[in-house]
Amino acid sequence: MHSKRAKIISIVNQKGGVGKTTTAINLAAALAILNKKVLLIDLDPQGNASTGFGIALSQRQKTIYEILIGECDIEQALIPTKFSDLKIITSTVDLSACEVELVGVEKREYLLRRALKNLVHNFDYILIDCPPSLGILTINALTASDSVLIPMQCEFFSLEGLSHLLTTLDLIKDNLNHHLTITGIILTMHDRRNKLTEQVETDVRDYLKEKVFHHVIPRNVKMSEAPSHGLPGVVYDSKCPGSIAYFGLAKEVLEREAKK
Ligand SMILES: Nc1ncnc2c1ncn2[C@@H]1O[C@H](COP(=O)(O)OP(=O)(O)OP(=O)(O)O)[C@@H](O)[C@H]1O
Ligand SMILES: [Mg+2]
Repeated sequence: MHSKRAKIISIVNQKGGVGKTTTAINLAAALAILNKKVLLIDLDPQGNASTGFGIALSQRQKTIYEILIGECDIEQALIPTKFSDLKIITSTVDLSACEVELVGVEKREYLLRRALKNLVHNFDYILIDCPPSLGILTINALTASDSVLIPMQCEFFSLEGLSHLLTTLDLIKDNLNHHLTITGIILTMHDRRNKLTEQVETDVRDYLKEKVFHHVIPRNVKMSEAPSHGLPGVVYDSKCPGSIAYFGLAKEVLEREAKK
């Protein structure tokens, strides 16, 4: 039991395939390796974060779905990983039913926040891997969080998507969670040889200034291979460029959180 309260951070971008889950998995593992107590919540019906940690479907009896619909206590859904300091709450495709099943449930935006109350003194960091949409699951994540991390790919349409996301975050701040802040924006699958990457990076840094993390995550095939081995990239090959970048990012996150 910790006296301090966990920092709850959502990894969010409504755009698909931008590196949310890869960031969630590797940041969670890197923070655990840096001796932080971490809980990773897989809030995506695709269940990629659960699979990325090698958790078979047969081990996913109590998932975030059962928690949100009130069928189990959050403590029952904590699954151990090979790191003693890292636990995960898994998901399966059942979670997709929430968008419909929670219609009409009173205060349905606050279900995750309420469920996490019992756990905030057991961890240093609670990371939430969000689905690629801004539906009720992501709203629950944002309502429960202290801050957000936004992974984005340096592509032509990324800035448009980002400004839509920032508008949504303002709405959540005004209506559901006044304390929500942005820890930072992470440039993912970065390719220094690509002129467009460079141009988009310049635009994003001009627009969002110090909100953009100094560390960028390079495109690195080891990062995409690791989940098929049920391991975070930072464990699968701790010395590859992607892993080095994620360790750098984890330290930068810790520095930013310490300044708050
Ligand atoms: N740094 C990287 N280098 C190479 N491939 C990467 C990197 N980061 C992510 N990928 C690959 O890109 C794809 C999308 O990444 P990921 O699943 O993390 O994105 P996502 O935003 O969580 O997607 P979704 O929106 O579907 O949840 C995956 O196949 C992943 O392995
Ligand atoms: Mg994902």
